[in-house]
Amino acid sequence: MTIIETRDLTKRYRRQLAVDRISFTVEAGQVFGFLGPNGSGKTTTIGMLLGITTPTAGEFRLFGEKGRGSLHRVRRRVGATLEQPNFYPYLSGYDNLRIAANVKGVGAARIDESLEVVRLTGRARDRYRTYSLGMKQRLALAATILGDPDLIILDEPANGLDPEGMREIREIIVELGQRGKTIFLSSHLLHEVERMCTHVAVIRKGKIIRQASVHDMLAANVVAELRGPDPVALGRAAGEYPGAVGACREDDGAVVVRLDDSDLGALNRYLAGRGIYVSHLGVRRRSLEDAFMEITTAGEEVAA
Ligand SMILES: Nc1ncnc2c1ncn2[C@@H]1O[C@H](COP(=O)(O)OP(=O)(O)OP(=O)(O)O)[C@@H](O)[C@H]1O
Ligand SMILES: [Mg+2]
Repeated sequence: MTIIETRDLTKRYRRQLAVDRISFTVEAGQVFGFLGPNGSGKTTTIGMLLGITTPTAGEFRLFGEKGRGSLHRVRRRVGATLEQPNFYPYLSGYDNLRIAANVKGVGAARIDESLEVVRLTGRARDRYRTYSLGMKQRLALAATILGDPDLIILDEPANGLDPEGMREIREIIVELGQRGKTIFLSSHLLHEVERMCTHVAVIRKGKIIRQASVHDMLAANVVAELRGPDPVALGRAAGEYPGAVGACREDDGAVVVRLDDSDLGALNRYLAGRGIYVSHLGVRRRSLEDAFMEITTAGEEVAA
């Protein structure tokens, strides 16, 4: 089932074309990363999906619905954070959620469940102002999922966190995805997207420049580097390996071959089966970050 579908969605501020005819689809159960540098149009796009920002042109559907009235209705199935919610510093995390639950008309049972998901149960009775930044962001996530939404939309959920804080957010998001939630999140943190998302769209200057599953994007980017006593025989055998994509090349005495997955063991076994033993087998894995930098900066200077 398609959960989000945009078609030529466009937002122009007076002089600025913030979002330029973007079309993408998010299917049920995907953890979809909306990846782009600062000012690329991520927040504007999310604002349109949430009904905060009015599109200049184009359209979108949520849960197959479009139009003001229908969207208003299906947005009950959406949990979102666009900005940090204003929690009361002198109240506990629990009491802050209780206020949020009242506003949303959500029963108290969901407060405990949400705290559990974001791993704040043990600190729920402590005052908000004693929370670390990571805990504050997890409480915001708890508020977002209070209504047990089918679609969770998050604008830069790991922004400003240290690696440990990011790991916690990542684990929670992966877990929500495993529970069948559809998640749409924006980020400029490529490595994070690579590790928690199933699908990604890369946005740059308001345009989507690439859209794929993370698996496909990474698979296209695994490059093995081989060294051995007989580079010619090694190159020939590696080039005939069924998992090789395209031709081998020689680089600084090493044979370099692009693979369709990251299973170096299979390549090694294949070569050994042909009597070729390598002295070095390594992976030059282009991360999503490398791919992203290439496609977002190609031919132009990076936007300030
Ligand atoms: N209310 C507004 N009025 C005028 N221009 C705006 C407005 N909101 C955003 N813009 C412009 O639209 C473009 C896209 O902004 P947006 O906030 O959507 O980007 P972003 O990808 O979320 O960036 P960041 O990573 O910095 O959060 C930017 O050039 C921004 O300056
Ligand atoms: Mg933004």
